[in-house]
Amino acid sequence: MKLIIFVLTIFCLGVTMEAKAQSSEANSQNDRKILVAYFSWSGNAKALAGQIAQATGGDLFEIKTSIVYPNTYNACTEVAKQEQEKNARPILSGSVENMAQYDIIFLCYPNWWGTLPMGVFTFLEAYDFSAKTIYPLVTHGGSRFGRSLDDIKKLSPKAIIGQGIEISAFDRDPSDSPKVKVPNTKVTSWLNTLGLTK
Ligand SMILES: Cc1cc2nc3c(=O)[nH]c(=O)nc-3n(C[C@H](O)[C@H](O)[C@H](O)COP(=O)(O)O)c2cc1C
Repeated sequence: MKLIIFVLTIFCLGVTMEAKAQSSEANSQNDRKILVAYFSWSGNAKALAGQIAQATGGDLFEIKTSIVYPNTYNACTEVAKQEQEKNARPILSGSVENMAQYDIIFLCYPNWWGTLPMGVFTFLEAYDFSAKTIYPLVTHGGSRFGRSLDDIKKLSPKAIIGQGIEISAFDRDPSDSPKVKVPNTKVTSWLNTLGLTK
């Protein structure tokens, strides 16, 4: 009899602990604070960042350089090429308020000359990403991620780099309407796979 009571007690304790663990896991999912940081020249990465912020409830932040890039494609590529050759760190005109509060950062950017625009280099070097997960989203004209994933790892070595996504999107000038239409179904499935929708 004592043995049966003992076994039943152990069983009930196990069920209670499992229920507690599940509820705290659910809470921590909801408690995760999300930042959606984006750099965009002709609006595609911006539109997708907006979609992500809406779907996840994350805060939007534009990575904006003090230098304003030329409005025509060829001129912009020239300036960007020179910045890359100089390994420049363009000054940013704003900063994230209390980065420490965020657990997850979606980083949306266009592929510029095979990697991140240099302003995104400045951004990644400006914060401590320890214990934070960065999910990269690149828009591009054919080169997909290029070297950008390696560069993100180098620039934020303490971050965990989560599964990224590449979206083909190429506009000649900012005056053209963005090629991507939102909500973009590929981005929607990615967010569902990550389990990060509201
Ligand atoms: C300065 C510059 C450099 C670019 N370099 C590349 C490149 O190396 N590979 C590529 O696939 N697309 C390249 N592109 C095309 C952009 O990736 C594409 O226009 C961008 O993803 C659109 O995003 P946005 O509208 O958010 O700016 C370049 C565009 C610019 C303006």
